Amino acid sequence: MAETYDKLKTIELRKKHVGPSCKVFFSHDPIKIVRAKGQYMYDENGERYLDCINNVAHVGHSHPDVVSAGTRQMELLNTNSRFLHDNLVHYAERLQATLPDKLSVCYFVNSGSEANDLALRLAWQYTGHKDIITLDHAYHGHVSSLIAISPYKFHQLGGSGQDQSVHVAPSPDIYRGKYREDHPDPATAYSDEVHKILQGAHKKGRTIAAFIAESLQSCGGQVIPPRGYFQKVAQHVRRAGGVFIADEVQVGFGRVGAHFWAFQLQGADFVPDIVTMGKPIGNGHPMSCVVTTHEIAEAFSSSGMEYFNTFGGNPVSCAIGLAVLDVIEREDLRGNALRVGNYLTQLLIGQKEKHPLIGDIRGVGLFVGVELVRDRVKRTPATAEAQEVIYKLKEQHVLLSADGPHRNVLKFKPPMCFTAEDARFAVDKIDHILTVIEKATGLQTHSIIASENGTSKRGAMACEGNGHHHSCGKENFNESFCQEGALSCDRVPNKRLRT
Ligand SMILES: Cc1ncc(COP(=O)(O)O)c(C=O)c1O
Repeated sequence: MAETYDKLKTIELRKKHVGPSCKVFFSHDPIKIVRAKGQYMYDENGERYLDCINNVAHVGHSHPDVVSAGTRQMELLNTNSRFLHDNLVHYAERLQATLPDKLSVCYFVNSGSEANDLALRLAWQYTGHKDIITLDHAYHGHVSSLIAISPYKFHQLGGSGQDQSVHVAPSPDIYRGKYREDHPDPATAYSDEVHKILQGAHKKGRTIAAFIAESLQSCGGQVIPPRGYFQKVAQHVRRAGGVFIADEVQVGFGRVGAHFWAFQLQGADFVPDIVTMGKPIGNGHPMSCVVTTHEIAEAFSSSGMEYFNTFGGNPVSCAIGLAVLDVIEREDLRGNALRVGNYLTQLLIGQKEKHPLIGDIRGVGLFVGVELVRDRVKRTPATAEAQEVIYKLKEQHVLLSADGPHRNVLKFKPPMCFTAEDARFAVDKIDHILTVIEKATGLQTHSIIASENGTSKRGAMACEGNGHHHSCGKENFNESFCQEGALSCDRVPNKRLRT
């Protein structure tokens, strides 16, 4: 069944009955998707969209092996984990085989938020400490305990958002952060910031239970921490009696290509104490997992309180999880992520030479960010332009999102079956859209050289000079962009929309 209601009726009913905080993509003209296959989504009119953002449909939308594994198990049995069932132990065994030996105990839950909430409970119980260190711009989930440690969210509440038990370390972003690519040792510099936080907390008599970070920051702007940063942070945190939680909800299950887990990019000598998983684990089926060490699991059970989760680890979820692991292996999706990811990154690097709006390209495997700036020297975020790019792409049936603290980072995290042709198709569209924007704003190729020599004032003129961020200095735009740019600016949502 594709449609029960026509699109307008769907919108009307959604407005009436669905909480207004649950936003839709492209709110001025939302898309109604009725089916999807592989890396393509189809609307109610059968129009095809290239999906560059759905890391949940990890092995491809509606993958037949995943669908049939779930269906077969649903026909047979679905029940809770208080009954013995082979799917549960088999899946735990298979999952463990992808991880370092030390991470051997699984807790099955139903969403990334549940996984991170449980990770905090494990850390609190094991350490007997309370405070959490999180990274600036991080997002770890929608439940209360996680909004509290997600600056991406609590910053939106203004000054009142941050609890005194939560400490925010600078994001290890070597493009826009405190220590940049020209720093001789950003891994040490950023980890020293965590050390300073630990010392400050200690002076106040506070104790740290955990440091939590995504292995690659996603909502934070596709940030790739410098290699060695996690080892150094873990050393400081463990010395203070805390544990290291790696959030792999967005970036796990082979997305980075060379490794199954993104934390492994840091080096074989780094092993977190707790790893949380979600999104891709069930290819769209709601399941997730926390994996930890035997010692932490023992400490958790020593409280005497039972951990029961009605749906976590049910036979259907585990059958689906097993099918996802099989497909990743059989279709060599990690290899594909590496090959296509490298190709995509190369294409984008080529675009950087052509387009002054592109300030930085960063990525591993099929996790790639394109940071748009109005001035390469000042790194002025090109927020409205990024919104313009994703809206124009959507009109041309390519789905991409923009995120990061300034919402100026285009995020690629497509299903892992994304092809080289898909990469070329999306980049060609971006090329065309950036050309139009740059032509309209007068920001053209020659400005790259001028800008990098520190002589271009164009970026400041274009949008910063008048201090009206959302008006984008429209007076500097020619008429065609003025209309489009004005639209774009108006379209920039007050609150970001996470994807
Ligand atoms: C890094 C990260 N952790 C946790 C979560 C929460 O996952 P869920 O929405 O499945 O609860 C998200 C969701 O976007 C996420 O991006």
